[in-house]
Order: sequence, then C-alpha cells, then structure tokens
Amino acid sequence: MKNIESKLTESRSYKPNESFKKKANINKTILFELNSQYKKTPDMFWSELAKKHIDWIEEFKTVCSGSAPFFRWFEEGKLNVSSNCLDRHINKNKKAIIHISEDNNKTVITYDELYVLVNNFSHSLKKLGLVKGDRVIIYMPTIPEAITAMLACARLGVIHSIVFAGFSSESLKDRINDCNAKIVITVNAFKRNGKIIKAKNTVDHALSLGCPSIEKCIIYKNINENTKFNKDKDLWWHDILAKESIVVEPEIMSSEDLLFILYTSGSTGKPKGIVHSSAGYLLNCILTNKWVFDLKDDDLFWCTADIGWITGHSYVVYGPLATGSTILIYDGAPTYPKADRFWEIIEANKVTIFYTAPTAIRTLMKLGEHLPRKYNLNSLRLLGTVGEPINPKAWVWYQSNIGSKKCPIVDTWWQTETGAHMIAPIPGVTQTIPGTCTHPLPGIDVDIVDDNGNSINKCNQGGNLVIRKPWPSMLRGIWNDEKRYKQTYWEKYNNKYYITGDTARLDNNGNIWIMGRSDDVVNVSGHRLGTMEIESAIVSHEYVAESAVVSYQHEIKGEAIHAFVTLKNNFTEYNNTEFAKELREWVKEKIGSIAKPERISFSDSLPKTRSGKIMRRLLRNLARGEDISGDTSTLENENILTQLKNIL
Ligand code: PRX
Repeated sequence: MKNIESKLTESRSYKPNESFKKKANINKTILFELNSQYKKTPDMFWSELAKKHIDWIEEFKTVCSGSAPFFRWFEEGKLNVSSNCLDRHINKNKKAIIHISEDNNKTVITYDELYVLVNNFSHSLKKLGLVKGDRVIIYMPTIPEAITAMLACARLGVIHSIVFAGFSSESLKDRINDCNAKIVITVNAFKRNGKIIKAKNTVDHALSLGCPSIEKCIIYKNINENTKFNKDKDLWWHDILAKESIVVEPEIMSSEDLLFILYTSGSTGKPKGIVHSSAGYLLNCILTNKWVFDLKDDDLFWCTADIGWITGHSYVVYGPLATGSTILIYDGAPTYPKADRFWEIIEANKVTIFYTAPTAIRTLMKLGEHLPRKYNLNSLRLLGTVGEPINPKAWVWYQSNIGSKKCPIVDTWWQTETGAHMIAPIPGVTQTIPGTCTHPLPGIDVDIVDDNGNSINKCNQGGNLVIRKPWPSMLRGIWNDEKRYKQTYWEKYNNKYYITGDTARLDNNGNIWIMGRSDDVVNVSGHRLGTMEIESAIVSHEYVAESAVVSYQHEIKGEAIHAFVTLKNNFTEYNNTEFAKELREWVKEKIGSIAKPERISFSDSLPKTRSGKIMRRLLRNLARGEDISGDTSTLENENILTQLKNIL
C-alpha cells in the first residue's frame, strides 16, 4: 500500500444551488434520517424502502439472509420486473421513450404503446418455446426494440444477456456459449458515424464458429439494408410479432430469480458473466434514480450509455422505467454528423437530466465551448458522470459550459457488479468537489483497507476500496463459475468484505477519491477491459510469440492500451508498422474496436523474472514515460529494458 500515493489536490468546491435545493427529492433532514435509520436498523431501512417502491405480487418476509459470499434479499417475495416497469404506468398517457436515430428520425413511445409492444413480443418469444430460466442474447444497438426485448424477457422470466453491438463475432460466440443461450435477437444493421454496421453478419459469423445451443435468430429490420436470411434458423421480428394486441400474464418471479447476465472483463482472459437478481437489483435502481438523479415526473432523462453496458441496464431501462420516467435514447455517434450533436438534441427535446462518461466530456471539451454556446441548454437541471475518474478540468468545463454553473454534477461510482450507484453526491445536499464521487449512499457501507484488510484511518492514504455490508443490488455470482466469484470478490479478506478491485483514498472532509484499479484491468473510455483478454487475442495471431498489455494516461480516453509484443523467430523480419496495423485489426476482430491497442512496441523479448513471469510493472513505467521504479533484481534479462527504452 505504500506505493499508492495521492498526487491530486483540488480546492474548488460547490454548494448545491438554492433553487435546486428547494425542490430536491432528498434534503438534509431526509438524508440524515435515512442514514440514521440504516445505522440503527438496517433491515427495517431496506424493508420499508422495498415495500414502498416495488409492486409486489406477494410480500417478502425476510430482508437479507445468507452469509458472505452468498446473500439473498427479500427471499419469499414475488414480483415481476417488467410489470414494475410498465403495467403500473399505463393509462396515464405518459411518454416512456423518445428515440432519436442517427439519421435524426424521432419516435415517441408512450407507456401504453410500450406495454403493447412488450406484451406482443413476449407472446412471440413464448410461442418459440422459451420458458422461465432460459437464456437469450440481445445483440442490438440502443433502440426501442432492444428495450422491448429486454422487458419481454423479464416478463417471461427469461434471462437476457446483452452483448454490446460493437463486440466481434468471437466475443459474441464466447458469451453465447458460456450461458448456453437458445435465441439471439439482433438487427439487420445499424448506422454509426454514417457507416452501416451489419450486425446480422456478425451474428452469422459467430454462429458459424460454433454455437450449438442457439435454436433461432430473430432479426429486427432496423434500416433498409439487405441481409442473408437462413430459413432454418432466422425469423423476422415483424413476421413473428402478433398483429393484434395480446396480453401476456407476467411470470410470477421470486425476488432472487435471475433477471440478467452481463459479461464484464476481469483480470483473466475470460469475461465474467455477472448475474443479477430481480427484486434487489430493481430496488437499488429505483432508489438511486430518485436520490442521485432527483428524478421527477416531468423530467426528460438522457443517459447516453449503450444498453450493452450496465449503465444502459440500470439508468436507461430498469431504473427510469420503474420510476415511470421519460427517457431519451439516441443510437448514433456523439459527434455525427456534426460535433454539436449532443447539444442540439438537448435543446430540441428539452432534456432535463443528462448522464454521460468523462471520455465523452473530454472529447466534447476538446471540440470547443463555442459549440454548446450556440444552443439553449437551459432545460438542463442536473448532470451526471460515470465510468472512470473525471479529471477536475473536465468536471469544471462540464459544470460551466453545459450546466450553466447552476446544475449539480453527480459523479457516480459503481460497477457492473454493484448494479447501481454506491458512492455519489445527493444533489440537493452534498457539497461537491471536482474529481470526487463524494460519499457512500444511504445503506452502503464502504471502507478503504490495506492489504491485510485493516481500515486505513489516515487521510489521503490510498488503499483498497471494499464494501462491508451486503446491499440488495449486489451481484449474485458469476454465471457457472462459483470458484471465480469467490476468488475475485471475497477470498483475499476471508469473506469479510466485497472487494471492488478499485483503489481509493479519503480526504479530510470524508470525500472518497477513486484512484484506479488494483488488478490487471484497464479502463478505456469508461469501459473495463481485462489486459489478459487483450493479450490472449494478440497471442492467438500466428506470428506472435508473447505479449503484455499495460495502460497509460490518455487525454481523451482516460487510459489507453500499450501492447508489448515479441514475434516468433521466423517472423521477426516482418515490417513492424504494417504488422502493427494488422495486429490492431486482429484485436478488433477478436474483441471489438474498443480493445484496439493505441500503441504497439515490438522487441526481442519481454522483461521477465527468473521464474519466467513478465514484469508488467516495468512495462507500465516504460509506457507511462516514468523512470523504472522498484526492485529490478529479479529481472532475468536486463538488456531488454535498454532495448525497449530505445524504441519508445
Ligand atoms: O474502476 C471503476 C470505474 O469503472 C469500474 C466499473 O466498470 P464497469 O463495471 O464497466 O461499470 C462502469 C459503469 C458503472 C469501477 O470499478 N468507475 C466507474 N465509475 C467511476 C469509476 N471510477 C471513478 N469514478 C467513477 N465515478
């Protein structure tokens, strides 16, 4: 822990603005009461909230049961998540989704219309023989039909697993096979940056690589673009969708029945299928939408995340719809066709709450403040950020240029595994400082500990961020891999805490500052990527002997990937510039564009210990332009450092 030193100091701080405070869902008194109730009677705290915010078919008797690392929440309770997101909001003539396509077509869907769409699609899925507990892969961009598919699965108790539509066929195949999905739902194609991306071709390729569990592929005709149609397997969405409105009774689900699997990167090559439950997940999604986003009936909430990530699950779909809010979704690129696309959409639709990632903020900041200045962004009343630490410069730019200095900024820390926000400001109460996600939310008990699991009580001393008590939306495990679940999240401290894998420090005012990851995971543009996963992809190229991947600071992406590669003997004469290009494409094909290394360096070998372990720590120093620090006495081949220094 001695190595985790904090170098950031930030003295600017912002109090919530008075007019925001007056109308906020949570004021100082409510926050105080919530926190003290949790301290006194945690079960009562969660029980009251669950009763108030969820529509139960049958009420639960126990609140939290089990012991680490396996907890159960609201065990005897019965509910259906899709009913909570739809049935209770119909007949109010309320808008559910405003969808803007990259081509600027606008579609408005009310809760009543979405209810019909979801019921009809549930009927189609049911007719295909899907039953509770089956798995379905959704490989679609963020369009209303993707949301329809998610909610239809939830209605039937079918477990969905969304694969980000930018992932390659190999990644898709691995995820399909890991969860033995029966059906894949996709689009013929979609547009990104004006280019046509043929998603169905990627699915076809994935299936050709071997996905024996897949019985059918449902294709939604998203744009006018021909696609191959395989009569044995393929079905058109419009052909199987009921023409008349049919009501499908929601499946009665137990609180602990799984709602979805979402794959995320870990420090080994294999993605982890994070599993989430029904009731607990839903509860934290609802609460955080109300507490952190201050969501109200007349808000228009735009979370720019793709539904392929956890943010899209919790803050595009389940949280906002369960609270009966209106969401805006946009399935195009942030700067297409022009750099002011986001600001134009906010003005035209009067978005009130805007939630995006630091990487997007930095990109838009670089394009200049004259762009947002052309628009009236006065409808905005709250701004959020997520995915990686936001640097104070970008925070202040966001607050001044987008939030007209009046909008609170909520920097929300959480993970795929936590399901919902864990550490974030309460916008009407918390004094914010650029760069910190501030304090844990009511009901969330975090600590910063040293390698032995002892609390670090010293300010500004970095340590491992852990969560001490279970919470409703915590992951329930890793699909089919109990051992890995225990190893990754619990074993280091003997099941005492949930281990986040992040390092953090506490400042003098009790604010938490996230410092980065402690494992071999890099965070590129707000997306977690396992370095091992990228290394495995690189090494699978026939010319490559070995590879090590590390990250370095990048102005826009937050972190970028530097791959160190050694080639097999007979290929060392290969033109490195050409081959670097080829290797980048190779990684794109194996994993997806987001994993492409920004830099690739070729050398005769890699720095290794005498026992043959690659010393990534030294490579990290080199990639980051730092002096080599720490002990190098175990280094077997000292010369390689000189060679690497010379080529960088
Ligand atoms: O390292 C933290 C970083 O993103 C990781 C979680 O990534 P993922 O599961 O893909 O979920 C992203 C969206 C929740 C965390 O372990 N992270 C997320 N939010 C923040 C953050 N780092 C700093 N500040 C944040 N607000």
